[in-house]
Amino acid sequence: MSIDRFGDQTIVVTGGAGGIGAGIAKAFVAAGGQVVVADVAVAAAQLLVAELGKSARYLPLDVTDESSWISVLDSVDREYGGLDVLVNCAGYYQPNVPFEEMPLALWRKHFAINADGVFLGCKHGIQRMKQRGGAIVNIGSGMSIKAIATASAYCGSKAAVLMTTRTAAAAAGAYSIRVNAVSPGPVPTAMLRGNLVADQTEDELIQSLGQFSALQRLATPADVVAHAVLFLSDRASANITGVFLPVDAGNLVGA
Ligand SMILES: NC(=O)c1ccc[n+]([C@@H]2O[C@H](COP(=O)([O-])OP(=O)(O)OC[C@H]3O[C@@H](n4cnc5c(N)ncnc54)[C@H](O)[C@@H]3O)[C@@H](O)[C@H]2O)c1
Repeated sequence: MSIDRFGDQTIVVTGGAGGIGAGIAKAFVAAGGQVVVADVAVAAAQLLVAELGKSARYLPLDVTDESSWISVLDSVDREYGGLDVLVNCAGYYQPNVPFEEMPLALWRKHFAINADGVFLGCKHGIQRMKQRGGAIVNIGSGMSIKAIATASAYCGSKAAVLMTTRTAAAAAGAYSIRVNAVSPGPVPTAMLRGNLVADQTEDELIQSLGQFSALQRLATPADVVAHAVLFLSDRASANITGVFLPVDAGNLVGA
């Protein structure tokens, strides 16, 4: 990968301290970008930026809070001269909740982080990039499309990510801002480990999920990063907007 591919760009990665977000942050740093890891998880984010060195810094962000967005993007304007790429990766998933027992508060928590968070990111990202152009990549999910009975709030809120990607793309195109989504299949991170059932090992979970994909394997953070998020963020993808790109080893092929 060329180290100056994103050499003149500032990239904000929400949920940048998590499994997939950290993979994305590392890939942008390797491609020469200045990366802001924006997350509520202070300790994990600080560890990551210490590892990444001077090309990365941490800014606290709660994606559900509009004033938090404004404060982070004010810092980016002030300290880096503006935003070039926003990756909306922060997410929340509480698995194994039967549809008819889903508490309204838990439903709303999923929508606050997954749907409101992406909406606020797109809204403020577009405002900041209006004069300079740029790219936004939202992280959806295979479950934006696939209906899982015990994941109604996650599926619903991730479906909203795909339509928000399209409405934001429609709104932002006039300013040369592109908005796309990547939809990972299962990726072994803390979020996926939440699916473990009693007496099941992580290897067993990974194996059982892998069998639902055409390629019989799971996506990794590196798959998501290297071949999708950076591709969609790259200025060379100038004509691609409003799409969602599954990166799931073929998990949706039979859906
Ligand atoms: N792991 C998977 O199998 C999988 C599959 C498809 C999609 N995804 C999506 O990928 C993204 C990353 O997931 P992951 O697997 O890395 O999960 P993760 O749990 O490792 O990371 C999620 C990150 O989001 C952060 N976050 C949560 N609420 C936040 C808030 N209000 N404000 C700011 N940050 C917040 C967390 O602190 C954490 O760092 C999510 O959007 C998730 O829905 C994951």
